[in-house]
Amino acid sequence: MSLETALPSPRILLGPGPSSVSPRVLEALGRNPIGYLDPELFTLLDELRADLRTLFGTKNDFTIPLTGTGMAGMECSFVNLIEPGDNVVIGVNGFFGGRMVEICKRLGANVTVVDATWGQIIEPGKFYDAVRSLESVKLVAVVHAETSTGVRQPLEPIAEITHDRGALFVVDAVTSLGGIPVNIDECDVDVCYSGTQKCVGAPPGLSPISVSDAAFAVSKARKSAVPNWYYDWQLLRNYYDAPHAYHHTVPVNLLFALREALSEIVDEGLEARYKRHRDVSAQLMTGLAKLGIQPFANPEYRLPTLNSVVIPESVQDEVAVRKRLLYEFGLEIGGGLGELKGKIWRIGTMGASATRRNVALLLIALEHILN
Ligand SMILES: Cc1ncc(COP(=O)(O)O)c(C=O)c1O
Repeated sequence: MSLETALPSPRILLGPGPSSVSPRVLEALGRNPIGYLDPELFTLLDELRADLRTLFGTKNDFTIPLTGTGMAGMECSFVNLIEPGDNVVIGVNGFFGGRMVEICKRLGANVTVVDATWGQIIEPGKFYDAVRSLESVKLVAVVHAETSTGVRQPLEPIAEITHDRGALFVVDAVTSLGGIPVNIDECDVDVCYSGTQKCVGAPPGLSPISVSDAAFAVSKARKSAVPNWYYDWQLLRNYYDAPHAYHHTVPVNLLFALREALSEIVDEGLEARYKRHRDVSAQLMTGLAKLGIQPFANPEYRLPTLNSVVIPESVQDEVAVRKRLLYEFGLEIGGGLGELKGKIWRIGTMGASATRRNVALLLIALEHILN
């Protein structure tokens, strides 16, 4: 196969992730690798971890770029905390809340699901009732930015209810970190994980995770060993902190790329970055409204990073529309997941993809195809 046919065609990624990355980040990927015990790597990791703390809004010492995608962060969070028979409460108002339930059940937890219609937030009172109904609660978990619906779940009220019962609060920030404020210390979140491929502006493959001292202590006090060796926090910590003992061969090129992506965030400034995401999303929704395309998520809690819209009734074959966007214009948008398959489109405006130019192109292409 020639190099030309082996390489993917250029794409503008406006789907639910991954997002496009900048030339600066791409260039960093191509540097020569260095060893996983090279002192320069630990200098890079220290800088990178400091920037991740700023992004998460935390002082948590144990904040690392975990190897693996967003699902690694999810699995790692639960595997360290849950022991068989533990009671956990999980919020489910979309596909990814459902994934949390699946993982917790596999770990032998007794799962209480607190749910809401997809497209709506989960009312905090439901969490209150759930934690009150249980004799003890190990943790409460929720997805901050539900990628399957485009809804932002407010965290503070759930944090309060959780800590009143002495439980830990676990939050999925895969589609929020870097695009909207997460501020885990202010919101009293114990464990928060994300992915690098959406609003953070790096390629897929790393899952930034931040763990509070309280959560770390709960993991350390387990009766049984963490059932998954690779994601055991204590073992990971022995690598990322002194004594820097070999754990696994960290994907150093992804770390180079993340280092640059985080530097870009620092250069842009967090507030300016959040504003860019809001502005570009507003531009998109205004343009779509002119094409007769309406938002799906509850407008009060609509994410500016993942724009969910109802597919107009006039569209006979939504897959064909997305295919034309991809093949004729190089533009990727997402379809619905789970129960929303065929009903909504999911348009990501995240990281380096969130530009006025990309949105203008998408609007022109969509208008052309729909007419
Ligand atoms: C909210 C949420 N959680 C978890 C994941 C899983 O991340 P990944 O596909 O990177 O493993 C995703 C992926 O889109 C997501 O949107």
